[in-house]
Amino acid sequence: MKYQAVIFDLDGVICHTDYYHYLAWKKIADKIGIAFDETINNCLRGIGRMESLEIMLGARSEEFSQEAKRKFAEEKNDFYRRLLKNMSPKDLQPDVKNTLDQIKAHRIKIAVGSSSKNAKLILKQIGLENFFHAVSDGKNITRSKPDPEVFLKASILLGIEPQYCLVVEDAVSGLEAASAAGMDSAAIGDAVNYSIANFNLNKLSDLLQYLVDSKI
Ligand code: BG6
Ligand code: MG
Repeated sequence: MKYQAVIFDLDGVICHTDYYHYLAWKKIADKIGIAFDETINNCLRGIGRMESLEIMLGARSEEFSQEAKRKFAEEKNDFYRRLLKNMSPKDLQPDVKNTLDQIKAHRIKIAVGSSSKNAKLILKQIGLENFFHAVSDGKNITRSKPDPEVFLKASILLGIEPQYCLVVEDAVSGLEAASAAGMDSAAIGDAVNYSIANFNLNKLSDLLQYLVDSKI
């Protein structure tokens, strides 16, 4: 097998929490009175909370103190976490669960590589707590994607060299992070619109064929 590990982004790859991020930022944007839509939201995929707020505020960033920004980010996160609390294993799509099960059955290691500080809560909600061989998330990194730190930490936690890891991402920032980490990548969702990944996926289970084809 060319790949000994697959590192999955979480929001927008394993589950639909990318939409909850959108709803939560939209609420804050509407309150402040700034434009926010799916196109702007796509620029925030994979980007840390405070950095996302700065991108969202754009030229209006100067109007707000650090304390005001901290409060916006806190309010966004509180609303977001309320949405997460309603999640259950029903929010894990069968195609995603089957794909993860089959990869594990082939003795390929699986990890999460997410910029989110809420990653462990989400995994618990959808019934995947303790399911992955490693979880590298927003709580153990100092720089969010496109910095490679989160994926390099995952590779260390797994004990597998970057060149044997494949990253699955819905964010262009995540594809850049994988490339900077020296890892191959597969794109899904919004990330298929950029020609950075080694492979594009329509659905997560397409990955299984890719892993078989790349057997060397
Ligand atoms: C990433 C999301 O997974 O996590 C970003 O794609 C988000 O949209 C980032 O900003 C940080 O998430 P959190 O849950 O720590 O605010
Ligand atoms: Mg994502």
